[in-house]
Amino acid sequence: MNSEEQLSLFDNPTAPVSQPDLIPTDAKIPILPGTYSDMTELAQHCNHCYRCPLGATRNHAVVGKGDLKAPIMIVGEAPGQNEDETGLPFVGKAGQLLDKILASVGLNAKEDAYVCNIIKCRPPSNRVPTTEEVAACKPYILEQIRLVDPQVILLTGATAVKGLTGNKTGITKIRGTWIEWEGRLCMPILHPAYLLRNASREQGSPKWLMWQDIQLVKAKIDELRSASN
Ligand code: URA
Repeated sequence: MNSEEQLSLFDNPTAPVSQPDLIPTDAKIPILPGTYSDMTELAQHCNHCYRCPLGATRNHAVVGKGDLKAPIMIVGEAPGQNEDETGLPFVGKAGQLLDKILASVGLNAKEDAYVCNIIKCRPPSNRVPTTEEVAACKPYILEQIRLVDPQVILLTGATAVKGLTGNKTGITKIRGTWIEWEGRLCMPILHPAYLLRNASREQGSPKWLMWQDIQLVKAKIDELRSASN
């Protein structure tokens, strides 16, 4: 099954679910590493998930998009309204900007990246996800990382950094530095939505900082590609 077909499953929460006995209806039900054999199975469970109260208010769980074997995984905060309606992450203005940021260094959002969020369901009024919501959803992102097995992970904004790694350092301090988490190379970057609120391109501005950071990411990808050839 290709990734488009997998994504279309996200539109159909009533589709038959494999392993129905494992549907995680409660955060107390553990989801162990290795639970999912592919992203389709994981997406089906997310669309039936009630591990936190956000399950009751979602239209669609927003699982991910892009290449399921991409070298870069990009982790955002949480779905917004457009994402909840479509079932796809980063489809609004922040997503368009993210595509442009990648394109600015010759990276293609569909071919070089797999894009997802720390939590899969939209918080009401787009508030920041709670610690409980992040904890309930964490097994899914851990499984996504295991399945995609990216070479680098970009963490957009403080919620993604803290949610995945537990690191509470402010994003403006930690961005642009490679950090190691569970043996994986992660780069915290500013959230694209933050750039949308700051038009300046002057040295030191959010857009300028992002430009520095994405060049570091591209250099790392090039380095890893040439090392494997
Ligand atoms: N859209 C997403 O999917 N995630 C974000 O963090 C922001 C917008």
